[in-house]
Amino acid sequence: MRFNFAAGAVATALLVGNVYADEAQKVLADEGSSPADPKASSPVTPDMPTFTPTKLKAPFLEQFTDDWEKRWKPSHAKKDTKGSEEEWTYNGEWSVEEPIVYKGMEGDKGLVVKTAAAHHAISAKFPKKIDPKGKTLVVQYEVKLQNGLECGGAYLKLLRDNKALHQEEFTNASPYVIMFGPDKCGHTNKVHFIFNHKNPKTGEYEEKHLNAAPTARIVKTTELYTLIVHPNNTFIIQQNGEEVKTGSLLEDFTPTVNPPAEIDDPKDTKPDDWVDESRIADPEAKKPEDWDEDAPFEIVDEEATMPEDWLVDEPLTIPDPEAQKPEDWDDEEDGDWIPPTVPNPKCDDVSGCGPWTKPMKKNPDYKGKWSAPLIDNPAYKGVWAPRKIKNPDYFEDKTPANFEPMGAVSHISSRNRKFSFNTNYI
Ligand SMILES: *[C@@H]1O[C@H](CO)[C@@H](O)[C@H](O)[C@H]1NC(C)=O
Repeated sequence: MRFNFAAGAVATALLVGNVYADEAQKVLADEGSSPADPKASSPVTPDMPTFTPTKLKAPFLEQFTDDWEKRWKPSHAKKDTKGSEEEWTYNGEWSVEEPIVYKGMEGDKGLVVKTAAAHHAISAKFPKKIDPKGKTLVVQYEVKLQNGLECGGAYLKLLRDNKALHQEEFTNASPYVIMFGPDKCGHTNKVHFIFNHKNPKTGEYEEKHLNAAPTARIVKTTELYTLIVHPNNTFIIQQNGEEVKTGSLLEDFTPTVNPPAEIDDPKDTKPDDWVDESRIADPEAKKPEDWDEDAPFEIVDEEATMPEDWLVDEPLTIPDPEAQKPEDWDDEEDGDWIPPTVPNPKCDDVSGCGPWTKPMKKNPDYKGKWSAPLIDNPAYKGVWAPRKIKNPDYFEDKTPANFEPMGAVSHISSRNRKFSFNTNYI
């Protein structure tokens, strides 16, 4: 993982990645720090370039060089499990090492989650607080899920500037300004972009979640995640330099930054005499004289005649000619033996047997119950809606992009305890 937090910096200049060896070389060359001859330095893979720290400047830039432990401190606090019985302490270990798969550069290291079935939390303080007010904020880092990802987050939290933040005490409940990056568990897979917004009236913070967040690619190669927020409240999310989402802080988050200016008046109720019905039965209409409500639906078809092949004298059923009186039948005890009946086979190939009656047919004079036709209701007042009043909780923040100053970056890896251990390289 390499972090770059740049207020006002150009994002592309920070594109330095393992799988982008070519670009990385170019960028580094542009920076006047051409990597050493790869053939000389890498006997195993002759084409592999060697990592050289960038000379780029940004308010915070991390390449996990040898002095990383001066900046990064693991937390040993208790996890805030929001009142549940579970108790967890952050005791997972972190290390900085080269990737175990798809290595793109000699000596290019990242931060790795090390302890199986443990909760991990780590943070690094910024040299001085980053205040994005009026500037473009760029947050960029690489994720390498070198063991895949069943269930877990690889997102960052930019913590609210807080003099009292003790890194050993940092937890999932520590106040943050922005949460950004991939998170996957089961079917849920998203690149989070959440920001905390302070309600200027109440002083309370509320999390604003990006609608229709993009999907994270779960691959073992390096993915570069970039978030850019402009002072005009527009934002861009890129994955490997490609735009995957763009929008506005004012329009694309739930709940919305600004509450509605007007709300329904809770004191307004529908008047008792409000007329809701848009259509009514015409009061002027009268049942026509010749409308016979009693005419039956069906009548006997008087014109029908008996089909010629109808066998009037044949019964519908006959005693089964194949049935035999059981040998142990006792007439005295069991009564007279009567053979079971079967359908008369003579009726199979003709229209019918037995007495013939005229069938029923639909009555052409059937009208049913008369009802008046519907007309527009002259008293109709429309759909009732409560009157609107000014929202007493209304405020308008025109520049949510003026995030609060940020003091540190953190990463938590706490969910993979349920699944196979990921030594993920982020
Ligand atoms: C917002 O600002 C950015 C950077 O200056 C610009 O590229 C973009 O077009 C602006 N968007 C709107 C909607 O004004």
